[in-house]
Amino acid sequence: MDKISECILNRNSSFVPIWFMRQAGRYLPEFREIRKNNQDFIKLCLNRDLVKEITLQPINRFNLDAAIIFSDILMIPYGLGQEVKFKKNFGPILGDLIIEDILSIDLEEFIKKNTPVYKAITEVKKKINHQSLIGFVGAPWTLLVYMMNKQSPKKDFDLSLIKNNKNECIKLLRKIEEATCLHIEMQIKAGANIIQIFDSWAGLLPKDMLDEFCFEPNSRLTEYLKEKKTPAICFPRGIGKEYSNFCQKVKPTCINIDYDVDPNWAKENFNGIPIQGGMDPKILIEDKNTIKKETENYLNIFKNYPYIFNLGHGVLPETKPETISYVIKVIREKK
Ligand code: CP3
Repeated sequence: MDKISECILNRNSSFVPIWFMRQAGRYLPEFREIRKNNQDFIKLCLNRDLVKEITLQPINRFNLDAAIIFSDILMIPYGLGQEVKFKKNFGPILGDLIIEDILSIDLEEFIKKNTPVYKAITEVKKKINHQSLIGFVGAPWTLLVYMMNKQSPKKDFDLSLIKNNKNECIKLLRKIEEATCLHIEMQIKAGANIIQIFDSWAGLLPKDMLDEFCFEPNSRLTEYLKEKKTPAICFPRGIGKEYSNFCQKVKPTCINIDYDVDPNWAKENFNGIPIQGGMDPKILIEDKNTIKKETENYLNIFKNYPYIFNLGHGVLPETKPETISYVIKVIREKK
């Protein structure tokens, strides 16, 4: 069994598996080199050979326990027929949304559009040996936010966009969920053995909307994964103290904490559910002593607890690749 499955399915705490969100990405010069010649990001995500190469870049450089397929959560809106573009120094820009059209789309078409993603997973699987192969999806709420807002909500987001249009949004949420299940199923069939569910914008939800828009869809996806005997790592970023309710209601195989979650509190309140991540990615921009101290802090807290080392969000583009090597060394030398 791969180390991550051993840690989160058997709750084995005798070692700490390591991987990083956005481990393949802009902090790696070899990624930037490929990106320079491939301006269209969606097209890049559909290029089987390059996806394989980019996914393996961090695996070739570092001693990691998992490969995460190089792709994007916005491949779901793309597959559903909404235009998705990425603008330099801005982020994603989505095209017009005609909910009626999306609701009536045939999901065969969705699979067809995303087939290169699944093929790339199968290719990566052939090239790795002991590492886990992590597939991923955006959670329905986070995808709904991008599809309705048509850009990152970081810059501008008005909840009334959803509140004033609730019935239609719920229908759309369900359609997204259906596509998400299919995307999960196809990734597993292609060779992914763990699925991470990114609810990156769960923190935008007021308390009275959390059940319907976050806990319930994450629950259904987690259940679906349990039927497929595949571990689910959930990441409901930004929900603060609601993380303990999330664990209680969703019962994920593993939960990724963000850097606002106190790791000691998490350990005491998540009922033994394996934990992943937590450290602020900004720490990796600091000096070596700080990096060592902060890394060891997470290791000490989770000493006898099933824990996967990762960050509280993705690796920042300004991180030096040597820093990743250094963090891995600190962890391996300690445990
Ligand atoms: O982790 C990995 O190495 C796998 C690859 C991966 C990417 N996106 C590649 C990517 C994963 C797991 C994602 C998930 C993703 N995508 C999320 C959830 C995680 C999170 O960050 O909260 C979200 C919200 C997105 C949507 C998205 N994609 C945004 C907002 C942006 C632009 C801003 C940014 O953070 O870069 C992207 C682009 C993107 N996805 C890049 C990469 C490597 C950068 C592309 C580039 O400009 O070169």
